[in-house]
Amino acid sequence: MFITFEGIEGSGKTTQVQRVADYLKDYGHHSVVTREPGGTKIGVKIREILLDRNHSTLDATAELMLYMADRAQHVKEVIEPALAEGKSVLCDRFLDATVAYQGYGRGLDILLIHAFHSIALGGILPDLTFLFDLPAEKGLARAWARIIKDSGVCDESRFEEEALSFHEKVRKGYLEMAKAQPARIRIIDATSTEDEVFRQVIGMLPESFLNEKEKRP
Ligand code: TMP
Repeated sequence: MFITFEGIEGSGKTTQVQRVADYLKDYGHHSVVTREPGGTKIGVKIREILLDRNHSTLDATAELMLYMADRAQHVKEVIEPALAEGKSVLCDRFLDATVAYQGYGRGLDILLIHAFHSIALGGILPDLTFLFDLPAEKGLARAWARIIKDSGVCDESRFEEEALSFHEKVRKGYLEMAKAQPARIRIIDATSTEDEVFRQVIGMLPESFLNEKEKRP
């Protein structure tokens, strides 16, 4: 099973990826936890370029292509082999992030993004996606609180530095995608406590999937 975790900045999805992995481990199942951008050694370098707050002049199309390069490498090197071995993959951001950020956020052609995906994904699509939803203002406030707490300075803050209106467009994009694909994209109310958010996530994991894990040694 391939599960992706999506949401705007400060939605708490990264914490939940790890909690779900730990939960599945209790069922005797070790899943592959990964992320985008930066799920491979090459991807880590691409991530540095993409998120560096000093790269404010990065062109939107160049940005899109870098995310695609990261994804193509990640699918080939990590996701496809893991799924082929029958492992589950839990991925912090995947294709929906590009539609939300580069499509809705930057205003790039969404059909073009889908065309790139038909090359980069090799037919791999998530079985289930959790969308951690909260107002952009709240998410950004949380993201900045974390950045300040961590060190006061963060080199990876290029997206956090975007205007609130950008993050509102990204959120709108995610919600429209969830409305269009309700079977795959499940909305989680990310405004509540970490434990409550986790309960929502676990409640949405397919029972057949959990039972299958239970039978494993
Ligand atoms: P994160 O690791 O904190 O989620 O940061 C990744 C950043 O990259 C986040 O601001 C969203 C952005 N992003 C895109 O703009 N497009 C994409 O396709 C992906 C995967 C991430």
